Amino acid sequence: MNDSRPIGVFDSGIGGLTVVKALRDLLANENISYLGDTARVPYGPKSPETVQRYAVELAQMLMGKNAKALIVACNTVSSVALPLLTKKFSVPVIGVIDPGARAALQATRNRHIGVIGTRATIRSGAYEKAVRAIDNRVRVSSRACPLLVPLIEEGLLDDDVTDRMIVRYLEPLLADGIDTLVLGCTHYPLLTGAITRVLSSEIMLVDSAQNCARAVEKMLDRQSLRAAPANRGELHVAFTDAADNFLNVARDALQLSFGEIELRPLP
Ligand code: DGL
Repeated sequence: MNDSRPIGVFDSGIGGLTVVKALRDLLANENISYLGDTARVPYGPKSPETVQRYAVELAQMLMGKNAKALIVACNTVSSVALPLLTKKFSVPVIGVIDPGARAALQATRNRHIGVIGTRATIRSGAYEKAVRAIDNRVRVSSRACPLLVPLIEEGLLDDDVTDRMIVRYLEPLLADGIDTLVLGCTHYPLLTGAITRVLSSEIMLVDSAQNCARAVEKMLDRQSLRAAPANRGELHVAFTDAADNFLNVARDALQLSFGEIELRPLP
């Protein structure tokens, strides 16, 4: 196997870098081309139709870079646009919902899973559908947490205000009796420390980034799309507009290194 074309990864902005980090850790020899739509972030409050249109545009831009697969590193896009992207593009398309749902099913012991995400993700019911398509005896309790993304983007990863918001958002899910919590937004892995602090150690956290990376690895093997083992995996990062302070927050928290960032305006 020696397919050195890049894996195309996209997100509404910078949060998808958590998926890139997981991909780099697992598939260090793969070239990755990341595109973040910083011109139009956030997608969480937008309608499914708008998110679908944006998703197709970003996927087209990555296909222009000869991507061998498209990784939707955004729960909001994955929850409303995956069938459309799969239909429109000939390369494999992988999102974060299905891998997260499968991991949650493996983790839960009492068959009661909690999901947190943006309003669009929770409204779509995508996690419930993915979970119940595999096992319809499992209960899913979900909650939109719209204030978590701005808190993360401000770099308040280790802060009393963020801890209090987490308690407020998670209390109803805990009272409902969940034993597993899916971090259904690509920003949220940056809050793993804070959420662990607030939750009892009995609750299992499912991180969409790591599970997505494992699904990508399996897909590359299945479809014989792996780069040569000796390939030095390059990471190329592009945004549709200037990156804000959150880029530094993410880069530091994830210890991710990449060269110069390309500004790739929307067509
Ligand atoms: N990256 C998005 C997600 O995973 C959250 C940010 C946004 O609202 O665009 O859902």
